[in-house]
Amino acid sequence: MSDNSTPHRAKEYDEEIRRTIPFYHLFHTETIDLVRTLLPSVSVWLDTGCGTGYLAEQALPLMPKVRFLLADPSPAMLDQARGRLARFPSADIRFLSAVATEELVGVVLETPQVITAIQSHHYGGEEVRRLATAVCYRLLEPGGLYVTFENIRPDTARGINISLDRWLRFQREADRSPQAVEEHRSRFGRNYFPITVAEHLQLLRATGFTVVEMLWLSQMQAGFYAIK
Ligand SMILES: C[S@@+](CC[C@H](N)C(=O)[O-])C[C@H]1O[C@@H](n2cnc3c(N)ncnc32)[C@H](O)[C@@H]1O
Repeated sequence: MSDNSTPHRAKEYDEEIRRTIPFYHLFHTETIDLVRTLLPSVSVWLDTGCGTGYLAEQALPLMPKVRFLLADPSPAMLDQARGRLARFPSADIRFLSAVATEELVGVVLETPQVITAIQSHHYGGEEVRRLATAVCYRLLEPGGLYVTFENIRPDTARGINISLDRWLRFQREADRSPQAVEEHRSRFGRNYFPITVAEHLQLLRATGFTVVEMLWLSQMQAGFYAIK
């Protein structure tokens, strides 16, 4: 039984996620690179669905003055994040227990210039994603930057099968158990709900962002950024 909405228990999360999703570390390096280019003097950065705090761990050595608001609905993930980030005793970090709904609005008492949501908004279907995106938009400072990475749905049934075959082969070669790999195929559209690249771009535009761009694309994952 997992203790968050991913299939991985928080303690094993970091190792397992890298055997599950190709190029995972690039999601974070691409995000940080974009922030450093666009908003190098960001003072408040909210990471929603922060998981074990990997993004903040990578960003802090480069941007030590940023106040990080790390939000996640899973207490076990927040505990892992606290433990991981204890090695930055002088960093300004707040840990917030919240899902990206009104609950997040209730606990974020500042106005972030950057909000990131990496692989956190695809668990509950269309309405959850729409609401989470709207909440991030509302919380963000005008001119601020929103970055999201998500699993994506290829445009055709054939494309979905081809991409899933490639994805599952990656997992087998990364030594995931055959059972976990098979379960992964059955989770598509049942436990997580990918939308197409076009639908992602459209959702960000419809939410109100003025600049909407693709940041990164791989087999079945993509990154997007948007400016309020
Ligand atoms: C796949 S993990 C990603 C963690 C982290 N962002 C990373 O890059 O490794 C997804 C995280 O999102 C959290 N989560 C799930 N649904 C969420 C929601 N609706 N709003 C905010 N966080 C959510 C989970 O508890 C989990 O920690």
